[in-house]
Amino acid sequence: MLSTFKALADPTRLRLMAVLARGEFTVQELTTILDMGQSRVSRHLKILTQAGLLSVKREGTWAYYRLEGNNSFFTDIRALVESKLHQDPSLSHDRDRLLVVLENRRCKSLDFFDRHARQWDELVRDSLPTAAYQSLLLESVPDLQIVLEVGVGTGNLLEGLRCRAQRVIGVDHSPVMLEQARQRVVHAGFSGIELRLGEMRHLPVSNNEVQWAVLNMVLHHAALPQQVFHELARVLGPGGGVTLADLHRHEDEWVRDRMADMWLGFERTELEGWLLAAGFELRSFQLVSGSPAEHSVVLLSAVKKNASAHGAFL
Ligand SMILES: C[S@@+](CC[C@H](N)C(=O)[O-])C[C@H]1O[C@@H](n2cnc3c(N)ncnc32)[C@H](O)[C@@H]1O
Repeated sequence: MLSTFKALADPTRLRLMAVLARGEFTVQELTTILDMGQSRVSRHLKILTQAGLLSVKREGTWAYYRLEGNNSFFTDIRALVESKLHQDPSLSHDRDRLLVVLENRRCKSLDFFDRHARQWDELVRDSLPTAAYQSLLLESVPDLQIVLEVGVGTGNLLEGLRCRAQRVIGVDHSPVMLEQARQRVVHAGFSGIELRLGEMRHLPVSNNEVQWAVLNMVLHHAALPQQVFHELARVLGPGGGVTLADLHRHEDEWVRDRMADMWLGFERTELEGWLLAAGFELRSFQLVSGSPAEHSVVLLSAVKKNASAHGAFL
């Protein structure tokens, strides 16, 4: 208790805790959010990490701090500390700068997809075991009325999803990607497909509007992945669920520049933690691997188990 309270007993460290309760950030991002020099921020991060309040997640050569240490006493008091920090009006400037940092993350991805939409299908052709995981993905979607695909891209899953549902709503934040999807729909003469321009953290979808959501290779572009699951819980009706296909954790840093990836894939534990926090229960999890040149793909399904966990995340 003493070492925990000592570590927390500092205004800068409380500010860091408040920010890191929202997600994972690099030292550079934290210096922007706190508007403070890097050496000061690093010194405080070190104290919090040594007290077991934070841990460092390595993604290639990048390091993200996160509020997930090995301090069991802090685990017991975490919810109370977080809610007090959340209500503290003196932290509103940090919150505003945090939103700017998240917006910068999002804009990098948007800019990339607007520029590369027309070559997108070529760009990804050889990097994933696509045929294998996409047929498993489609099998995991139950036959339903309305399915949502988030990050629909050029729409290569739309036909398969339409076979599963009466209506498919496709959302993407890139107008140019969405136009490629629209042309595909028109060209193939598909009906029952509606494309909407929008953000995965604020989906242009009403509460409980859909029964199932599919995210195919989009979560690794999310500025704050855990926020996406809270938003999915909002738009899914009772008993609804989600199928997620994304990259398993890898070390290929070139994807940051060449594919605008925000995250180098995901571990099962972090995905499960985010799902649980947003009120989902994991139903299936598998890894699909292809040739050595291809990334392994995580394929999971989860169902919404209660209505209480969703709501404003930030
Ligand atoms: C890697 S592509 C995958 C496209 C498609 N799901 C597929 O597998 O072919 C990611 C897509 O997600 C979209 N996207 C990225 N960030 C997004 C966000 N924050 N909100 C909505 N769409 C997003 C991109 O514009 C892009 O079309």
